[in-house]
Amino acid sequence: AHEISRVRNLSKLQMGRFELEPWYFSPYPVEYTEEEVVYICEFCLSYYGSPRRFERHRSKCTLLHPPGNEIYRDANVSFFEIDGRRQRTWCRNLCLLSKCFLDHKTLYYDVDPFLFYCMVTRDEYGCHLIGYFSKEKESAEGYNVACILTLPQYQRHGYGKLLIAFSYELSKREGKLGSPEKPLSDLGLLSYRAYWQDTIVDLLLDVKGEITIDELASMSAMTTQDVIHTLQNLNMLKYYKGQHVIVLTDAILAQKERQRERQKVKGYRKLEPDNLQWKPPV
Ligand code: COA
Ligand code: NA
Repeated sequence: AHEISRVRNLSKLQMGRFELEPWYFSPYPVEYTEEEVVYICEFCLSYYGSPRRFERHRSKCTLLHPPGNEIYRDANVSFFEIDGRRQRTWCRNLCLLSKCFLDHKTLYYDVDPFLFYCMVTRDEYGCHLIGYFSKEKESAEGYNVACILTLPQYQRHGYGKLLIAFSYELSKREGKLGSPEKPLSDLGLLSYRAYWQDTIVDLLLDVKGEITIDELASMSAMTTQDVIHTLQNLNMLKYYKGQHVIVLTDAILAQKERQRERQKVKGYRKLEPDNLQWKPPV
């Protein structure tokens, strides 16, 4: 029975102007698995099995953005902070939707212990959800992200890195070092590695003179372990005259140059820390 329950159970989702194909099982009520299309209200995230019922809902739904405070805004995106306890239904609907794209064994039905940081694009119709990450209000392990997702229609555009950058910006404001909850999915690991490498190499290019691993950690809000692993992966940690030293290799510099060229073509989404209006919740 457990094996069967893991099989992808919905064939198509309609959300805003997008049609999505789920990747994995998600525990929507069983009657929805019979439907050809499940209609998701892109603002309140409630779901409907028929276009008629969905249209009736849309004519009544007044929500135009995630139900929380806007804590960040730049020219392209905004972030909203949503408390799982205060917005239980919305956050459960978000978890149901995101489970379609997450192969995790556990899904958090209990959303109360989490805050949800939701990234949107704004237009004249409202705020359209791009992705989010959840974060435990109290993490004994020091995790700064529980789940992270870019909706498929927005993937591979740099939004994942922006979500990750945002999670570390929150950790900086808290004066803490953070790391995502393990295990990471394959895509999660790829994205984190890319972010960690960018961050560490950029910091090293910026500093004049010496810098220690602890300093890299506190400047990035990454754990020292993640800093060390990143340096090791990049082959930048050398042992020289009885001491560990960080070496920016020619290979890394060449890679950075290629990345800058690519970003000129593709555009680059950068977080503006000054635009974050947020204090750690007490
Ligand atoms: N194949 C290869 N590399 C990939 C990749 C893919 N499909 N997706 C991301 N990457 C790597 C690339 O290095 C990419 O940088 P580049 O595009 O400049 O080369 C980097 O990760 C970041 O990509 P980005 O566009 O910022 O990420 P994204 O918006 O696509 O979001 C996830 C990344 C992980 C959030 C997204 O894939 C996702 O939601 N996956 C499903 C849910 C999930 O697995 N979450 C993690 C659970 S722990
Ligand atoms: Na990308």
